[in-house]
Amino acid sequence: TTAKTPEIFVGSIDQGTSSSRFIIFNQKGEIVTMHQMEFEQIYPQAGWCEHDPEVIMDSVNQCIAEVAKKLEAMGHSISDIKAIGITNQRETTVVWDKITGKPLHHAIVWLDGRTKSTVAKLVEKSESKTTTHLQQKCGLPFSTYFSGVKLRWLLDNVDAVKKAHDEGRLAFGTIDSWLIYNLTGGVNGGKHVSDVTNASRTMFMNIHTLQWDEDILKFFDVKREILPEIVSSAEEYGKVVGGPLAGLPLAGCLGDQQAAVVGQRCFNPGEVKNTYGTGCFMLFNTGTDAVISKHGLLTTVGYKLGKDADAVYALEGSVAIAGAAIKWLRDNLKMIESAAEINELAAKVENTGGVYFVPAFSGLFAPHWRDDARGCIVGLTQYATREHIARATLEAVCFQSKEVLDAMNADAGTDLAMLKVDGGMTNSDLGMQIQADLLGISVERPAMRETTALGAALAAGLTVGVWKDLNDFAAGEKPDIFEPKIEAKDRADRYADWKKAVERSLNWV
Ligand code: G3P
Repeated sequence: TTAKTPEIFVGSIDQGTSSSRFIIFNQKGEIVTMHQMEFEQIYPQAGWCEHDPEVIMDSVNQCIAEVAKKLEAMGHSISDIKAIGITNQRETTVVWDKITGKPLHHAIVWLDGRTKSTVAKLVEKSESKTTTHLQQKCGLPFSTYFSGVKLRWLLDNVDAVKKAHDEGRLAFGTIDSWLIYNLTGGVNGGKHVSDVTNASRTMFMNIHTLQWDEDILKFFDVKREILPEIVSSAEEYGKVVGGPLAGLPLAGCLGDQQAAVVGQRCFNPGEVKNTYGTGCFMLFNTGTDAVISKHGLLTTVGYKLGKDADAVYALEGSVAIAGAAIKWLRDNLKMIESAAEINELAAKVENTGGVYFVPAFSGLFAPHWRDDARGCIVGLTQYATREHIARATLEAVCFQSKEVLDAMNADAGTDLAMLKVDGGMTNSDLGMQIQADLLGISVERPAMRETTALGAALAAGLTVGVWKDLNDFAAGEKPDIFEPKIEAKDRADRYADWKKAVERSLNWV
């Protein structure tokens, strides 16, 4: 290999629910090279889902090692990388021992539903006896989804965790905290921090002050000392210790959905993006106002790009199962061999033949917030084939997004005209056409779809001066636009049928 004129790069670690990746971006925001790895999902019981924190760390380190090799083979040097950003699956809860640096339990994944009874206890304990008791303060309802509830379960059910809490050696964090702690040295001086976007998903943070809330901690009976320090989404958290990236600053961090807001450049109030990953998450930029939803949405920090920068908030509609439904067809029903195959199958039929699939595997999140909902496929006849079920699966993701968009329109008091999309399922032209058809508005898909990783890279690059400001960033290639093609009556009829299917799933147990 011959040496090239040095270019400037930013690296981005994207630790998602199903896979980890490490991506190198150049100054134009283009991908230089990357590596991705799926890792093991652990299902100890129906409705439970865990990750081994050490396996997560290994997968990230392997991605880094592979990318370092690729970069050097391309004639670049690691020293061309100026900073590292981190973005991660949110809410997934890790507990470790501060003295040994070892996890005290597997991570409880965000979509794990084991905390149903913990939620019921918290509601019962609250003065108003409602799921929305803390919502004005932390922006979130009591739900199995959030880290604070998962931590309460661990304290109640795992002796080692309770003991470590009582003895003052427990460290709690979301995946960002776990990664930063390990990358900055672990037991040897590793930093225990959490970026404000991730912290806003715990229920422990006051959404207005951006600090851990003493009253909420008292309510949950959790000690302040076990929590990470809350930091902004763009500042230097520490330098990487060991491995190919040793010495590089970790300089940006956002939860993956918030990173996609940045990567999609939704910087103005009223702009919305929807990311289709394992789940599906729509975020609506509300500027510097923390708006509390009246229609089942969450209030979350969108980003805070710098210690002294203002926080920008978002309303979020979270759908637990999107890509995971396609994975379920592949892994559990063995109906397809690869996720992409769903498109070929679904394209073979004009419609679902009256079949509706509500993939409420983890209950239903926004706007329903019902942890007792269960999945169902309705409308089956002898005419129905796997092609119909495949199409119904794509439609399910799009209908769930429609429910969330309706809630956003209701909260905003105005109808959105356009939706920016990204994530795995957006590679499906058919899926995006169905989305535009069912929403009745245009759907805009960027040419570069790794917007989540790009958002974290942007945050890190801003910190170290690779980019001057948010405008100092090429707009990227022209996006694809999908326009609705079906009649309003057809859309309304199908949505009405979908709602009936949701009723079945809500009233199953
Ligand atoms: O809130 C969970 C979310 O952060 C997970 O994202 O992309 O792994 O489905 P994803």
